[in-house]
Amino acid sequence: MDDDALRTQAAALSARLKHANRLLFITGAGLSAESGLPTYRGVGGLYADAEAETEQGMPIEVALSGPVFRRQPEVTWHHIARLEQGVRNAMPSAAHALIAALERSHEVVVLTQNVDGLHRAAGSSRVIDIHGDCHELLCTRCPHRETRTDYEGLDVPPRCPRCGAVVRPDVVLFEEMLPSHKLEALWYELDLGFDAYFSIGTSSLFPYISAPILDAARRGRLTVEINPEATDVSSVVGHRFATGAGRALSAIFAPGD
Ligand code: OAD
Repeated sequence: MDDDALRTQAAALSARLKHANRLLFITGAGLSAESGLPTYRGVGGLYADAEAETEQGMPIEVALSGPVFRRQPEVTWHHIARLEQGVRNAMPSAAHALIAALERSHEVVVLTQNVDGLHRAAGSSRVIDIHGDCHELLCTRCPHRETRTDYEGLDVPPRCPRCGAVVRPDVVLFEEMLPSHKLEALWYELDLGFDAYFSIGTSSLFPYISAPILDAARRGRLTVEINPEATDVSSVVGHRFATGAGRALSAIFAPGD
């Protein structure tokens, strides 16, 4: 998408956003790609090679599943620790910062699949991190919880300092249910409705991620996608920006900068 096309499209969307107050941002790994983190399905990502098996001879989705975690927590932890290693020292990108800054003038809700905590680090206050946050650890037996800035010095798998049971990150593993309180928070916000629905940097593979956009588009609401690649929501959104998150968001919300 060249500069002229971006400017023209951004101006058209800005005009429609003039009186918008409630904004929903649905985000995925593409947003954090601009903080230097690999996406899941992109080059160098955790699932980059679909056929790849882990050192333990199982596909990555199996290693990162609830059943394997219960049987062999060290296998799952090995991969979670790799993920955290990638996240460590990452800073929020311009796109994270822009979404956070919009709270000064708008009511903003972020629904993210990212477990890196970068939306909160950028200052967003209403974040539904539907897949959790890898910095939050909890005991699998007792109520012990702790927040860690990184996993430095942790045993694999780590044990609870209170009861000795295995500790896990507060993230959703494959074959696990989404946390009901987060789903309820999402439904509450969707019931209130939004003036604009943004999908940014996600392959939109999960129904709870694509449905708010598909539903809003069906009801004729203002929908936007920012993603260099086409996805399942691309053909239904009213405004599609085939470019990176930071570039598009700045053109839409901070064109003079
Ligand atoms: P994916 O890796 O599937 O997709 C990342 C998307 O970001 C792709 O569509 C890219 O085209 C796009 N992208 C890349 N760079 C971008 C940029 N600079 N700006 C905007 N978009 C860009 O990641 P997710 O959709 O987030 O779940 O993956 C969803 C879930 O799959 C993850 O949360 C994880 C995984 O299984 C669990 O772990 C439960």
